[in-house]
Amino acid sequence: MKKIVVIEGDGIGPEVIRSTVRAVQTTGANVELIEAEMGLDCQRRNGSYLPQETVDSLEVSDACLFGAITSSTDPGYRSPLLQLRKQFDLFANVRPLRRISPDLGLVDLNLVIFRENTEGMYTGEEVKEGDSIILRRRVSERAIRRLVRFSRDYALSDGRKSITCVHKANVIRRSDGLFRKIFFEEMALSGLEAKEMLVDACAAAMVSNPERLDSIVTLNLYGDILSDEGAALVGGMGLAPSANIGENMAIFEPVHGSAPDIAGMGIANPVASMLSAVMMLHYLDMDKEADLLENAISNAVREGKRTPDIGGDLSTDDFTEEVIQRMNH
Ligand code: NAI
Ligand code: MG
Repeated sequence: MKKIVVIEGDGIGPEVIRSTVRAVQTTGANVELIEAEMGLDCQRRNGSYLPQETVDSLEVSDACLFGAITSSTDPGYRSPLLQLRKQFDLFANVRPLRRISPDLGLVDLNLVIFRENTEGMYTGEEVKEGDSIILRRRVSERAIRRLVRFSRDYALSDGRKSITCVHKANVIRRSDGLFRKIFFEEMALSGLEAKEMLVDACAAAMVSNPERLDSIVTLNLYGDILSDEGAALVGGMGLAPSANIGENMAIFEPVHGSAPDIAGMGIANPVASMLSAVMMLHYLDMDKEADLLENAISNAVREGKRTPDIGGDLSTDDFTEEVIQRMNH
C-alpha cells in the first residue's frame, strides 16, 4: 500500500484538503493516509513551522498531498515549503494549465509548465555591497540537465508534441545561455520538437497565440510568473494544480495560497487541490483512480456545479458532494 502524508496547512488549506481526501477515498485508491503538520498555525501550536515528525513521516512515505500555508512576517522566517523542496531535492515543479470547461477562462490554453525548483533567483543568497544588494542567481548544469530530462520524459508520456525552452539568453547570456545549450543537447533524438522563446515573448504568446505552446521548460522565476499568468488565463487560482517532484519524493499542492480573505467561509474551490491529487494518483501509477476523479471533477464543473470564485453558488462541501456522487455512479 502506498503511504501518503497529508498536510492541511493554514487558511483554506484544511478546507480544500479535507474535500480532496474524501474524493481520493471515494476513488478506492489503495493508499494509507498519514496526517502531518506544517505552517503558521502549526508554529503557534507546537513552536515550529516544520516539526521534525513531519519530516520523518515524509522520509518514509511515497508522496505528500499539501494544502497551503500562510507566510509569517517574522524577519528570520524561512518558508517550510522551500525548506522541504530543498531537503527532498524536489527539482521539478510541474504545472499543467488547461481549461476544464470551455466557458471558463480567457484563452484556449492546454499547456504544461516545467519549472526549475531549486535554484535560479530563489537561492536566497543576497549580500550587501556598498549601496547595493547583490543576489546570487544560480544556473547549474546538473539542475538543468535533470530538469530537461525529466520534462522530456513527462512530455512524452503526456502525449505532448513539443517543448519550448523559455529563457532570456539574449541578455542574460552566460547562465540562460547554458540553460539553452543543455536543453538542445538533451532534446536531440527525443522524438519531440525542441523550440525556444524569450520569456517576455512567451508571456505575450500565452495570451495571443496559445496554440503555439504545448509544453514549456523554464527557470525558477520565469516559471513562477508564467504559471500564475496561465492560471488566470484558464479560470483562476481555484483551478490550478501542481507537483514538486524529486528522485524519491513528490509533493502535490494547489498553486494557490491560504486565501485568508475567504478562509473559514466554506466557499473555497477544492478543484485545484483535487486536480493535484489526480496528478498524485498518476505519479503512484493509479491511473484508473486518477481518471475516475478527474472525470468527476470536470463533469461537475461542466454541468455548472461551481463555487463562487468561478461564478457558482455552491459551498466547498456541496461541490465535493457533486464530485463524490459522480464517482459513485
Ligand atoms: P492566494 O492564492 O492565497 O489568494 C489570491 C486570491 O485568490 C484571493 O482573493 C483568494 O481568495 C483567491 N483564491 C485562492 N485560492 C482560492 C480557492 N481555492 N478558491 C477560491 N478562491 C481562491 O494568494 P495571496 O492572497 O497572495 O496569499 C495568501 C497567503 O498564502 C500568503 O501568506 C502567501 O504567502 C501564502 N501563499 C502560500 C502558498 C503555498 O502555501 N504554496 C502559495 C502562495 C501564497
Ligand atoms: Mg507563485
